[in-house]
Amino acid sequence: MNTLTMTAALDGIPVEMQPTRESLQVVITGHVDHGKSTVIGRLLADTGSLPEGKLQQLKNYCERNAKPFEYAFLLDALKDERAQGITIDSARVFFRTARRQYIIIDAPGHIEFLKNMVTGASRADAALVVIDAKEGIQENSRRHGYLLSMLGIRQVVVLVNKMDLVDYQQSVFDDVVREYSEFLDQVNIQPRHFVPVAAHPGDNIAQPSSRLPWYDGPTVLAALDELQAQAPAADAALRMPVQAVYKFTELDDTRRIIAGTIESGTLAVGDEVVFYPSGKKTTIASIEAFNRPLPERAAAGEAMGFTMKDQVYVARGEIATRADQPAPHVTTRLKASIFWLGKTPLLKTTEYKLKLGTARVPVRVSSIERVIDASHLDPIAGHDRVERHQVAECVLDLTRPLAFDVADDLAATGRFVLVDGYEIAGGGIVRAALPDPQTAVREQVLRRNVRWDHSRVSESRRAERYSQRAVLLIVTGHQSTDRKGLAREIEARLFEDGRFVYFLGMGNLVHGVDADLESRHEARPEHLRRMGEVAHILLDAGLIVIAAAAGLTAAEVESIRTAITHDSVATVWLGDRTGSDLVPDLHLPDDDSTDRPSRVKALLQQHGVIYRAS
Ligand code: GTP
Ligand code: MG
Repeated sequence: MNTLTMTAALDGIPVEMQPTRESLQVVITGHVDHGKSTVIGRLLADTGSLPEGKLQQLKNYCERNAKPFEYAFLLDALKDERAQGITIDSARVFFRTARRQYIIIDAPGHIEFLKNMVTGASRADAALVVIDAKEGIQENSRRHGYLLSMLGIRQVVVLVNKMDLVDYQQSVFDDVVREYSEFLDQVNIQPRHFVPVAAHPGDNIAQPSSRLPWYDGPTVLAALDELQAQAPAADAALRMPVQAVYKFTELDDTRRIIAGTIESGTLAVGDEVVFYPSGKKTTIASIEAFNRPLPERAAAGEAMGFTMKDQVYVARGEIATRADQPAPHVTTRLKASIFWLGKTPLLKTTEYKLKLGTARVPVRVSSIERVIDASHLDPIAGHDRVERHQVAECVLDLTRPLAFDVADDLAATGRFVLVDGYEIAGGGIVRAALPDPQTAVREQVLRRNVRWDHSRVSESRRAERYSQRAVLLIVTGHQSTDRKGLAREIEARLFEDGRFVYFLGMGNLVHGVDADLESRHEARPEHLRRMGEVAHILLDAGLIVIAAAAGLTAAEVESIRTAITHDSVATVWLGDRTGSDLVPDLHLPDDDSTDRPSRVKALLQQHGVIYRAS
C-alpha cells in the first residue's frame, strides 16, 4: 500500500477506528465479462484508494479517443505504474476500509485461480462471486463455486451485477438468488449475502443505492467488513516445506540452513523437529533472519530459515514438523479429489507430476472412482478418463513416498497441483492416505530414524574426508550368473583405488544376523529387511557397500530403499533379464566381455559417488 492511499483512507477517521493491522484476502471469481474488474475498480475508487486525479485522467483520455471508459483500463493502467508503488501487482489489489486492509486476488481463469489457491503465496479467507444479472448463471459461475468448496473457502458473498441492465428489478435478482443458492447448497456453501449491484454506475458497492430500494442488506463493502479473517494457522501443527538447504560459506563450518515458508504452526529455538518423508530428527539451534536480531520463534506465514543441532541430511521437498505434534502421512498411495483443466483428458496411462508443498513426485492415476461435471454436478458414467472441467475422485500412485496431510486436517499441505509436461493441468485435495506395500517397513524405519542417535560427525564431513559418497551397490541378476564374484571384484578394484569399500556377503548375514530366521522362501522379505538395516549402518559410516543377491524384483529393491531412506542405492543386473521386473541402473549381459568393474565405476561416477576418475 502506498502512502497516498494510506493517508486517503485514514483521513477523518477517529483514532479508535483507525485500521488495525488485520488484513483479509479475498478471491474474486466469476464468468468472463460478468464484471470482476469493474467491481475491483469501483472498490478502489469508492474507498479513496486511487492516486489523486487518476480516475479523471483516464476518463478524459477515453473521451478524447471516443472510447467508453472501462474500469478494467484503470486496473491495467495501475499495473503499468507498479514501479511507482501503486496499489496493485500482477494478481493482487490492495485497499483498506476503516476496519482493515483487503487484498483482492483477481483470478481471471481457472488455471490462475488454482495456481493462486494451491501454489501461490496467497490464501483466500473469502470469495466474491460476480454474476451478470442479465446473462444469469453460467458454467463458470458453477465451476468456481465448486472449486471454492473443494478448496475449503466457506465465506462467500455473491454479487448480482449489472442490475442497471435489468432495470433494477427485484424479480431478476430473486431468480439468481434462488438458482445459485440451490447449486451452492449442493457443494455445501451457504453464501453470507447476495448483493444486487451495478458496478459500473456504482450502485451498492460502497454506498447503498436509491435505485435498489427493495434491498435492505449490506453493500459489498459492508458485507466484506462482516467477514472473518481465518483463524491463524499458527494454532495448527507445524508444517514447513523445505524450499532450499544452504551451506555456510566459511571453511569448516558444516552447518546448514534449512529454508522455507511456514505453512502452519510455530517453531522455536530448542524445538525438536522431524523431517518427512525421511523421518530424520534434529533440534533447532537458531532461527536465522536477515538484517535483524535473530528471533527465538517463527510462525505460520513467515519465510524463514533455521540451523540444526545435528546436521541431518535433508533435501528440498521434505516437510519439517514438530516432534511433539501429529505427524503427516507418508505413503505412495492416496485418494484425492481432482479438478481437471488439461487440454487432453486425464488418463490412467499417462505419468504426471504432483506438486505439493515443495515436493514434486511423478504420479499415475491407478483408479478413477467417480467423475462429475462441476457445472451440473451429475455423476458421469464410464470412468476411464477425466475430461477438462470435470472433477473426479481418484486413487493416485506415486513413484516415491510423499509427506502430506488430508485437506480437512491441514489445508496447506493437503492441496496439490498436477503438471502435465510443463503445464499445470489440474489441482486437487487429498481426501485420504492409503497404505502401500512398504507401509510396514516404512513405519518401522520412521521409528528408527526418529530415535536415531546422531554422530557429531556429519554425513557431509565424512563424504569430504573419504572423497566419496556412501552408496549401496546391489549386484543382482539371473540365477546362473556369478554375482558374488563380480561384487568381490568391484570391491577389490575400488579398494586399490583408495576407496572405503566393503563387500556385504549374504552368507555372512544368513548365519549371523539372520541365524534365527528359517531359510524358507517366506523369510526372504525379513532377510532383505535385515540386509537393508545392516547396509544402513554401514552407509551411515560413510562406506561404499556392495551386496549381491539373486533375482531381486523391483518391489524388493524398493523395500531395501525404504529401509535405507537414502537416495544412494544403485543396481546392477547380471545376465539374462527374464524373471524380474527390476529396471537396473546398469545391465551387464552374459555375452558382454568388457571390463565389468570399470563399467560399474563409471556408474558410480555418474551417481556422484566417487568424485574423480582414478
Ligand atoms: P474478464 O476479466 O474478461 O473475465 O471480465 P470481468 O469479469 O473483469 O468484466 P469487466 O469488469 O471487464 O466487465 C465486462 C464488461 O461489463 C465491461 O464492458 C464493463 O463495462 C461491463 N460492466 C461491468 N459492470 C457493469 C454494470 O454494472 N453495468 C453495466 N451496464 N455494465 C457493466
Ligand atoms: Mg477482468
